[in-house]
Amino acid sequence: MSQERLTTLLTEQRSYLPPQHGKSSAWVCGSEEAEALYRAALDDPNDFWAARASQLLHWFKRWDKVLEADEERHKYRWFTGAKLNASFNCIDRHLFSGRRNKAALIWQGEKEMDVRCFTYQMLYTEVCRVAHALSSLRIRKGDRVALYMPMIPELVIAMLACARIGAIHTTIFSGYAEGGVRSRIQGAKAKVVITADAAVRAGKLKPLKANLDPILEKCPSVAHVVVVNHADLYDVKMTPNRDIWWHDLIEDFTLDVDFPCESMDANDPLFLLHTSGSTGKPTGIMHSTGGYLTYAAHTTQWIFDMRDDDVHWCTADIGWITGHTYGVYGPLALGATTMMFEGVPNWPKPDRYWRMVEKFRVNILYTAPTVIRSLMRMGEAWTERYDLGTLRILGSVGEPMNPEAWHWYHRNIGGSELPIVDTWWQTETGGAMISPFPYATKLKPGSVTKPLPGVDAAVLRDGQTPDMDTSEGRRSGHLVIRKPWPGMMLGVYNDEEKYQSYFQRFGCYESGDGAEVDEDGYFWILGRIDDSINVSGHRLSTAEIEAVLASCPEVAEAAVVPMPHPLKGEGIYAYVVTRDEVPWSEDVRKKLRDTVRRDIGALASPEYIQFAEALPKTCSGKVIRRMLRKIAGGTYDDLGDTTALAKPEVLKPIIFGHQNLMLGQHETASAAAEEHGQEKDSTAEKQD
Ligand code: WTA
Repeated sequence: MSQERLTTLLTEQRSYLPPQHGKSSAWVCGSEEAEALYRAALDDPNDFWAARASQLLHWFKRWDKVLEADEERHKYRWFTGAKLNASFNCIDRHLFSGRRNKAALIWQGEKEMDVRCFTYQMLYTEVCRVAHALSSLRIRKGDRVALYMPMIPELVIAMLACARIGAIHTTIFSGYAEGGVRSRIQGAKAKVVITADAAVRAGKLKPLKANLDPILEKCPSVAHVVVVNHADLYDVKMTPNRDIWWHDLIEDFTLDVDFPCESMDANDPLFLLHTSGSTGKPTGIMHSTGGYLTYAAHTTQWIFDMRDDDVHWCTADIGWITGHTYGVYGPLALGATTMMFEGVPNWPKPDRYWRMVEKFRVNILYTAPTVIRSLMRMGEAWTERYDLGTLRILGSVGEPMNPEAWHWYHRNIGGSELPIVDTWWQTETGGAMISPFPYATKLKPGSVTKPLPGVDAAVLRDGQTPDMDTSEGRRSGHLVIRKPWPGMMLGVYNDEEKYQSYFQRFGCYESGDGAEVDEDGYFWILGRIDDSINVSGHRLSTAEIEAVLASCPEVAEAAVVPMPHPLKGEGIYAYVVTRDEVPWSEDVRKKLRDTVRRDIGALASPEYIQFAEALPKTCSGKVIRRMLRKIAGGTYDDLGDTTALAKPEVLKPIIFGHQNLMLGQHETASAAAEEHGQEKDSTAEKQD
């Protein structure tokens, strides 16, 4: 856990009461109502969730049981026996509730004049056409369709078309490079990949289809590739009988477009989304149709206090879970208007977000601390020139929000009055778990406040069990969830062992994060305890980066750890032991960085690469990352128990090497130039 964060915790004592204005009409309109909800969920969780499921969704058939739990195997099945379809819930039913001509999706392209808007009726038509088209490619219920696409409306349309026919979509962040894309397609055994000719990022074109071609040689499951012509690239190579343009494919389905929704079991998977786990292999998190959609709609309504005339903008890229739940499924299930932006916040100028807020009269803005920090750096002149008066609720997700960024967001974007909902959750949880209610919860900057009703979050120390009473006083430990909730993952695709590993240590769901709970029961997230790195709110696996570094012929061994970073929250620090004959040169550094970029993506490229003679290891040969983490953070005198080290003498040169690297030393010039470029890249990719 980060020392810096603990210090922040202890010094930040300001708190903010919920706003009065707008409170009376809020979904959860004050602390008393919130208390009643917490109690109701505690008294009878099944009743609570059943009521929410019936209020929020349309079910073709009601459930037989609200929850079927197999505690032994940690299997929880929600709304068993029920039937529904996510596409029906996100589109069809709104056609008959007065929202037919309401904007469902507003898309702002990177170019200011590129705007596309889909009413619910238009979205229905497009989704049905694509459902027909996928069906003509023999995609059926249960098949996997990979979506390697930029932030364009076709991505949302493709997701909902998959949901309509019961296919399982798996989106792949368009910033991923070869290895990242390949392992995800292979992991899902996708039959069809939908992509675009290119993505547009900060004024540049990034080819997607051309990137995909060599990858597909190693993905035998893929029978067809559908390509959206997004950037008018003229030299896209199409493989006969395999590749087809999106517009050609849907051309045949212009009339008589209705495509009936498949009746899905509540526990049929809706999608698969890979996240970084503790191994080098991405973890395919599987979410259910009924439980996930209930939880997405439920949290969107209460946390963002969603009203019918709101314009909701979740800035996350749909390649990540945040974009799934709060960019697509949550808002559309509620019949809301959701915004989608192709570009990045700082291009062509750092006013892009504020310009959009004014242009579309955005009411709810949900973004990430890394975005706030990078825009904060640009100064207030960029925010002051815009009318941000329509904003009602601000949100944050993905990483701990430092109080400085919180106050800047609150003051400059929220006019010192808007509530900030800092929401803690994960790909595995499906939706937010710990979050304030905007009109009911007192805020403490930097805290994600309290677990939502029905969410039994706690902090446990090693050796404690879930039934131990941990409710008194200030305490810290592993953040766990002790009871099931409808948004929880259905499983890990084709990897039962990995699924079980979440429950191994405490017998209940372990998040992998550390947290502190204060005397008022407020949660403060301290960051990852496991081997993940959170770069600008994106979870990356140290093992995955290490595996790529180790695949370079120059490298004998590599260890990757997080280090504090002022903008990105955490940066990536790599220790590399080279093979005997390999010199420690800038060229090698560059080559290693390039390999990571090419294989995983710019996001994963190490900030620093330190060459070392040897790594600190236990007698059994396990690298002690805890020490390497401390050294990367500049802490040399508190390395913990060094007696477990097989060769304690390796530490001194590592510390010396770190000092050298930090001092700027011989390698500065090229490293700095490169880092600059790298930072620009990864900020761009990240500002989703
Ligand atoms: C971190 C993103 C502090 C945390 C939704 C978690 C946060 C990981 C917060 C999940 C927050 C998410 N404050 N840290 N409000 N929200 N995190 O799966 O470490 O991409 O475990 O899901 O992000 O990342 P994931």
